[in-house]
Amino acid sequence: MTQAVQENMTKKDNWTKGSWRKLPIKQQPAYDDETELNNVLSQISKFPPIVTPNEIRALKRQLANVCNGNGFLLQGGDCAESFAEFSQDNLHAYFQVILQMTVALMYGTGKPVVKVGRIAGQFAKPRSDDFETKDGLKLPSYRGDIINNIEFSEEGRKNNPENLLKAYQQATATLNYLRSLAKGGEASLRNISRWNDAFISSSKQGKRFADVVSRIDECFSFIEACGLELDDVEKLKEADFFSSHEGLLLPYEEAQTQQDEYDGKYYDCSAHMLWIGDRTRSLNEAHIEFFRGIANPIASKVGPSMQEDELVELIRVLNPENEPGRLTLISRMGADKIEDLLPKFVRRVKKEGLNVVWSCDPMHGNTIKSPNGIKTRPFNDILSEVRSFFSVHQAEGTYAGGVHFEMTGQDVTECIGGAQAISEVDLKNRYHTHCDPRLNASQSLELAFLISEELKKRK
Ligand code: PEP
Ligand code: CO
Repeated sequence: MTQAVQENMTKKDNWTKGSWRKLPIKQQPAYDDETELNNVLSQISKFPPIVTPNEIRALKRQLANVCNGNGFLLQGGDCAESFAEFSQDNLHAYFQVILQMTVALMYGTGKPVVKVGRIAGQFAKPRSDDFETKDGLKLPSYRGDIINNIEFSEEGRKNNPENLLKAYQQATATLNYLRSLAKGGEASLRNISRWNDAFISSSKQGKRFADVVSRIDECFSFIEACGLELDDVEKLKEADFFSSHEGLLLPYEEAQTQQDEYDGKYYDCSAHMLWIGDRTRSLNEAHIEFFRGIANPIASKVGPSMQEDELVELIRVLNPENEPGRLTLISRMGADKIEDLLPKFVRRVKKEGLNVVWSCDPMHGNTIKSPNGIKTRPFNDILSEVRSFFSVHQAEGTYAGGVHFEMTGQDVTECIGGAQAISEVDLKNRYHTHCDPRLNASQSLELAFLISEELKKRK
């Protein structure tokens, strides 16, 4: 046992939801008025939880199945949710694409797909630079709507505690609507042929989806012809949908953390699952301290700067009981690096007998600037990283358990390539993201089909 793990175990009793406050912390905003901030946090701590410990435990059980090779994790949504893009239409379109991707993936994997949104709380952003300069004016960087405003002005870039309240309210309304869609019949596989919207009839991916739908419908008809009644099968009528975000802004997370009466554990009720970003995962710093004490399923990004021993320590600190479903590792190496970097981590984790879900984020290692200065991601690089991820796991005899995407249900032009052949010139047409470029609805579904094919090949 390493020293860090030992220290961590002896410290276990010393954990409180605020014990992170004594440690160094990165990527936090400073507020002009601490009293106002504390006021807001105190209000949030009394608000009803956005999710409940029961739901959180249900997700952990589903992720334990994924960890054991009996399921597949689909995690996706905005890079940064924004107050401006909050609407029924956007949420509905998002949910529909997630369901379509789910069907495509279920078809390929033959396994249940665990759906976790990067949504209902994905507001705070870590930034590479603290400041942004435009035409000689230097202002603090935009850190997400929960902190400041994207507008490049002195006023816009001020950190405003009131934004925490707005984010909490948007997160609750978002999850309320998505839960209703998931549980209220909208997600019923029995109605799958009714999902035929304009996108399905007009696009290549849509037609492909319609083809899968008709095959699923045929199966249902066959089963019913055998005399089995499907209308009352709960599993076909509703879907589980869970929320997640980067647990970056610890005062906000702490305010929503509570001890559950049932098992006495602490749950961060701001989301079902939380992850630690690649910039804030240093051992012995505040984020690891907070995360080790909450009982939610959690994840950590694993980027190119990760070291082998560091990863093992991180896993032991975050999952000392080696509980399946507790910890997901989201690798985000970049298409050109993954085959060199990932195998040694996968091999070591396997050798140490550590239970983790391996997931692939093919977005954050593949961001480039187009010649006209716009941040984008080539669809082919995204696809190539996903393919390499599956090959590495196949070669190492380990389970590739999931994928993590930045995507939207809207018809944006932010990532280049894909069947729609979005070019660098197209980027400025519908570029709406508040942070990183997202896959649009068609690209998301195309990717899900391509993954589905990869998985079928490897079965
Ligand atoms: C993110 O997922 O939005 C992000 C910032 O990723 P990473 O921490 O991997 O850079
Ligand atoms: Co991002």
